[in-house]
Amino acid sequence: MRKTYRIAVIPGDGIGPEVIREAVKVLNATAELDGGFAFAFTEYPWGCGYYRETGEMMPENALELLRGSDAILLGAVGAPGVPDHISLRGLLLRLRQGFDQYVNLRPVRLLRGAACPLRDVSPEEVDMTFVRENSEGEYSGQGAWLYPGTPREVVIQDGVFSRRGCERVMRYAYELARREKKTLTSVSKANALNYSMVFWDQVFAELGREYPDVETRSLLVDAAAMFMVKEPSRFQIVVTSNLFGDILTDLGAAIAGGMGLAAGANLNPERAFPSMFEPIHGSAPELAGRGVANPLAAIWSAAQMLDFLGHEAWGERIVRAIETLLAKGTALTPDQGGTARTAECGDALAALLRSRQGENPIKSSE
Ligand code: IPM
Ligand code: MN
Repeated sequence: MRKTYRIAVIPGDGIGPEVIREAVKVLNATAELDGGFAFAFTEYPWGCGYYRETGEMMPENALELLRGSDAILLGAVGAPGVPDHISLRGLLLRLRQGFDQYVNLRPVRLLRGAACPLRDVSPEEVDMTFVRENSEGEYSGQGAWLYPGTPREVVIQDGVFSRRGCERVMRYAYELARREKKTLTSVSKANALNYSMVFWDQVFAELGREYPDVETRSLLVDAAAMFMVKEPSRFQIVVTSNLFGDILTDLGAAIAGGMGLAAGANLNPERAFPSMFEPIHGSAPELAGRGVANPLAAIWSAAQMLDFLGHEAWGERIVRAIETLLAKGTALTPDQGGTARTAECGDALAALLRSRQGENPIKSSE
């Protein structure tokens, strides 16, 4: 029986539509080669253009519309002229929080052929998986703005760390570390944040007692930033808060080939709601519409979607195909030193999957 996955596609703003088109192309190629599954894509025209027309980033009932999907593919959100806190709270963060996508899973993996700005670092030394808390913490959106615009003005931005919220994301990371037999590093900042991060460290240590087989470390976020550059091989699985994870994964992107290769998955591991897959680079308005954006981050995010749908062999195969393109140096976009257009890069990747089909066939039934 051929399984059809219902995928909601939100191309969004800037380069989002251009890179998502290539991700869809690669997913279709995968389905065609496999034969055991297919995709039914439904596109939603939400984002800053929609906001200019309607005053909302997406309709009131957006979550209801998306709810029955098996997954969501998101391009990028944000455009000049629309304040970021409006566009992002109105779409990206509403989906992450509304669908309780509490794990943001971001590979920081240096593929052969990708440019690394660090001296004398080999691809094997940069191979981490970030498990970023994605539903609360510094992104809770809670706070107060008193006496705005007056000399008495006071602004409070609350960080919210619940026991359930910390435990569930840490448990996900512990399970991953156990399954992959890797070390787990927790990144926090208890020396300065004397409530939230003391609590974070405490919950991390408590849970660790259930995972005596997992080797753990704890680092302060400033030290973690330093070691990611000086000694990236220290890190395997990393679990951290929403804001620290945001910052460290941009640093991770920088050491693993740039934002053009940085993929991310917003997961609701219980599958009570759809999970969402998006490149982490954002809308890059200065590149939009020129056909030069790198689609590989979006394609890698689509590979994460295949992993989540249970087709890990295809997910890994797409990542290997990205690596082959990088190592051969063909069909790369300008950010990777090439001259290819976005669509040529996507075409080359799909062609590579097709040409490899005979060598090492994988079936979804395996
Ligand atoms: C990311 C982005 C978002 C975040 C922004 C756009 C709100 O930077 O996905 O990392 O901070 O989570
Ligand atoms: Mn970010």
